[in-house]
Amino acid sequence: MANQIPEEVIEEVRKSNDIVDVVGEYVQLKKQGRNYFGLCPFHGENTPSFSVTQEKQIFHCFGCGKGGNVVTFIMEMESFSFVEAIKHLASRSGTQLPELGGEKESSLSQDTQNILSAYEWLTKLYHHLLRFTRDGKEGYNYLKSRGISDTAIDEFQLGFAPTAKSFTAEFLKKKGFNQALSVKAGLLSLQNDNSVTDRFRGRVIFPIRNHLGKTIAFGGRSISGGEPKYLNSAESELFHKGKILYNFDLAKKHIRKENEVILFEGYMDVITAYQAGINNVIATLGTALSEYQAKLLNRYVDTVVICYDGDKAGLEATYKAANLLRNVGCQVKIANMQDDLDPDSFIKAHGGKAFKNEVLNTSDTYVSFYMRYLKKDYNLSIEGDRINYIEKVIKELALIDSSVEREYYLQELHKEYNISMESLTQEVEIQRNKQGQQPKKDNPDKNRNTNRGLSYRSNKKLLPAFQNAERKLLSYMLHNPLIAEKVQEEMGAGFNIEAHQIIATHLYAFYEEGHLSDISLFIEKLSDSELQKLVTEIAMYPVLEEISDKEINDYIRIIQEHRNDYVSIQTLKEQQKLAEQQKDPLKAAQIAMQIIEIKKQLKRTN
Ligand code: GTP
Ligand code: MN
Repeated sequence: MANQIPEEVIEEVRKSNDIVDVVGEYVQLKKQGRNYFGLCPFHGENTPSFSVTQEKQIFHCFGCGKGGNVVTFIMEMESFSFVEAIKHLASRSGTQLPELGGEKESSLSQDTQNILSAYEWLTKLYHHLLRFTRDGKEGYNYLKSRGISDTAIDEFQLGFAPTAKSFTAEFLKKKGFNQALSVKAGLLSLQNDNSVTDRFRGRVIFPIRNHLGKTIAFGGRSISGGEPKYLNSAESELFHKGKILYNFDLAKKHIRKENEVILFEGYMDVITAYQAGINNVIATLGTALSEYQAKLLNRYVDTVVICYDGDKAGLEATYKAANLLRNVGCQVKIANMQDDLDPDSFIKAHGGKAFKNEVLNTSDTYVSFYMRYLKKDYNLSIEGDRINYIEKVIKELALIDSSVEREYYLQELHKEYNISMESLTQEVEIQRNKQGQQPKKDNPDKNRNTNRGLSYRSNKKLLPAFQNAERKLLSYMLHNPLIAEKVQEEMGAGFNIEAHQIIATHLYAFYEEGHLSDISLFIEKLSDSELQKLVTEIAMYPVLEEISDKEINDYIRIIQEHRNDYVSIQTLKEQQKLAEQQKDPLKAAQIAMQIIEIKKQLKRTN
């Protein structure tokens, strides 16, 4: 691919973006031995088979086979073109890029790029109006009346869409945006008389940013009691409510630091918590948590603290979200939000410190929450209901593997309902026997940590000996130019597998250009993604620091013997054909026996 970025610059960008840090922005990585492991962002999984090697600056997934270096990771992850990935990484590390002509390299359609640009302009415009002008005064006063600071207004780029009907339309027109496109993007509304008006006029604007910090939609809050209370941009190619989490971009680094994320229902909850110094906070966009969002969170953190409103709807939503999160492998805690308060009003009334101490730090475990949640279905002053309730709780408790933990909840039941510990324990045991005592299948968090990083041993078929030898040899060659040189002298690119031949040829050329061993750079230069995958897989083979010439020679021998056998089978087959043509069945049969004999031997050594 032709790109105008000089090689040295690409190399500098690559060097200044450590793959562990970059991948770490998308995947929670845990160190194990020399590698890092996490849940693969490219395919759904519950046990981590995605690995990153810092020394080699590459990643590889033993589950789905994807692999490459930091640049290909970003390309894959963000659906970026090569140039976009380099730009993104350069801005991440503060590396200066030379001027690049044109925006042609974008992987987004021209329409989508225009819409993004319109959102960027409008975000700035609305924010400016709110902060500094009479047109936005209403919005500013509203936010002030709700206790939002200037700093938070700036941080979240909150704005106000003026009440004048054609203000935004005029602005977009002046900036050269196509009107039909702005309507399609949900920024303008088409009226019956074919005129256009600002869809969000008279509303306080909450820009909804994607994980890269770009505005992709607006939430507009009515400030005059008009309906609906919140108006969001319509779903589009850019904006899927079920795939976005409000404030994820700003919260990301705090989430990683705390290894915990606090999940709210509303924009206002997020902003109020953020300005109170609680920064690992996000919210869904007025819809129930989706499986996509749950999986996304599971890749980033171990623990999600659900902090929904304390009302009945909040309780139901909490139950659903908690189960969804548990099913994808997250640990769940439920914040202790009292009746009929929401996080925003709690923080406003009692401050951030009290919110931390009284709401977050006193979070319930899932089981405690469940015991509380279940009560809504029963009238516990009636004995029959009480028994049904306790039976249901015991079913849940029987799923807990730790006996200490089980005992803890049984004590609670014992105290609250005055049932003897003996009978409670007995009931749980009966249940456990019924359930086969195995941890529930859909509760993968139980064995999550113990399995970390081990899964890569599985699901790989054993390769025939010659193929294995080729890969091992290539792996040594990737790590050591001297070994590559030796192999080149001994057997050139005479590998049996075609892809291995190609890799070897590229590798010889790479070293001849004067490079040292640099697997990440080598991958970069292979433009074929299948080859890139194969090289990363091969590079992940464990190699010995010191390898003897004898071992190398052994590999070469196995490879060449296979080749020789292969060649002799081919020759024999031709002779067999000839014998048949010459009507010499005896000779043909003898040759056939020879072929079978060689094949048998091959099977034995392979
Ligand atoms: P305030 O009422 O301003 O404190 O906002 P809030 O964020 O606390 O809202 P609330 O708890 O009522 O609702 C939670 C979230 O649901 C909001 O942040 C919105 O994303 C969404 N939401 C609320 N009302 C509406 C509505 O009328 N339409 C749509 N589309 N979404 C809404
Ligand atoms: Mn609210």
